[in-house]
Amino acid sequence: SSRVLKRQCFQRPATRVRGALLYPDTIPFSLIPLAVLAESAELNGDEGRAVAFRRSEALLRSLDRRVQGVAELRGLPCLGEHSRRVIQDVLDNGESSEVEETKSSSRYKAMKVLTGIFGVGVKTAKRWFTEGICSLAQLETSGHTLNPAQQAGLKYYADLNQPVTRDEADAISVTVEEAVCSVLPGAQVTLAGGFRRGKTSGHDVDFLITHPDEGKEEGLVHKVTACLESRGVLLYHQTTRNTYQESPEGAGRSRSNMDRFERCFSILKLVQEQAKDQDPVQVEADQTDSGCRPWRAVRVDLVVSPISQFAFALLGWTGSKLFEREMRRWAVHEKSMSLSSHALYDNNQKRYLTASSEEEIFAHLGLEYVSPSGRNA
Ligand code: CTP
Ligand code: MN
Ligand code: MN
Ligand code: MN
Repeated sequence: SSRVLKRQCFQRPATRVRGALLYPDTIPFSLIPLAVLAESAELNGDEGRAVAFRRSEALLRSLDRRVQGVAELRGLPCLGEHSRRVIQDVLDNGESSEVEETKSSSRYKAMKVLTGIFGVGVKTAKRWFTEGICSLAQLETSGHTLNPAQQAGLKYYADLNQPVTRDEADAISVTVEEAVCSVLPGAQVTLAGGFRRGKTSGHDVDFLITHPDEGKEEGLVHKVTACLESRGVLLYHQTTRNTYQESPEGAGRSRSNMDRFERCFSILKLVQEQAKDQDPVQVEADQTDSGCRPWRAVRVDLVVSPISQFAFALLGWTGSKLFEREMRRWAVHEKSMSLSSHALYDNNQKRYLTASSEEEIFAHLGLEYVSPSGRNA
């Protein structure tokens, strides 16, 4: 019956919890500046520096009290000299001069605008900035040839830079679940990413798809995008096939954070509720003005995992990125194991350790289980 089908298909995360870590409750709001420095380092392509600031910022957020002086931070890990200086500055002057200078620099502003285009990374943005391109208007008149992702990114720039709400994510879930179940009954769709961690908004919506019969999930992404396309809700998609089966050796042990699942980076059309009953003629007219058309564009990631790797895929795609990084670091340094979104390899026993739940993975690593809402580091 359709109810059974629905229950099988619509596997939802068990709990929806508010983000566990909230700035205003724990530290002065003005300490968010450490995130600005992290972002600025990222925009400079300085990954090491960015991670250091992200760690400091995450540590401050994890404190259960407001910080009133740097002396209270003595002995805490993850806080480098630079971060302490910034915190001192904020505590003394209400703001950090370095952060304020960063925020108002033309480089930071331009890099933010340009990397804010879907499909544009730091390297491309840097090149454009060097050529004097600082705005979308300048990019459009520059004569640069944009790839399909960047063209879509520019076309839907405003929509894609407007955070996706939890309600919008739920509406997208319904669309994706319907499409997946219609092309492969029995398939399971799980909301991953920030929304699984209980965040109330996000930059995209991430879905992990699997099927209880291993092998049935192969090639699923293409069928799903074809279905979404036929329903007129697929604005852009770029599909990558699974390359893990070809050479699994090393994937579990590789240093790259990139997994090799079949996946699709897409942009979907989300029709807004109140607009559904509108007169079609009116709807057509509205579409000429992106400001008042009855739909918005939403970035959606679809990832397909074989059931035997599902627990690892779920852990990897739930994030946060910093949490994943710390967990993988722990695995290597403390347990001599290599954790990826596909597998866990024990370098001492020279074998893969299997897991059918996230709990088992934490247990293999000798860690206490952390629920998704506790992974907002
Ligand atoms: N991820 C990944 N490989 C990618 C992209 C993302 O493994 N190519 C993982 C990230 O490590 C992260 C999760 O997928 O753990 C979600 O990534 P993302 O959507 O970028 O971030 P969110 O935490 O969902 O936050 P946001 O609200 O900004 O989307
Ligand atoms: Mn996400
Ligand atoms: Mn994503
Ligand atoms: Mn296709």
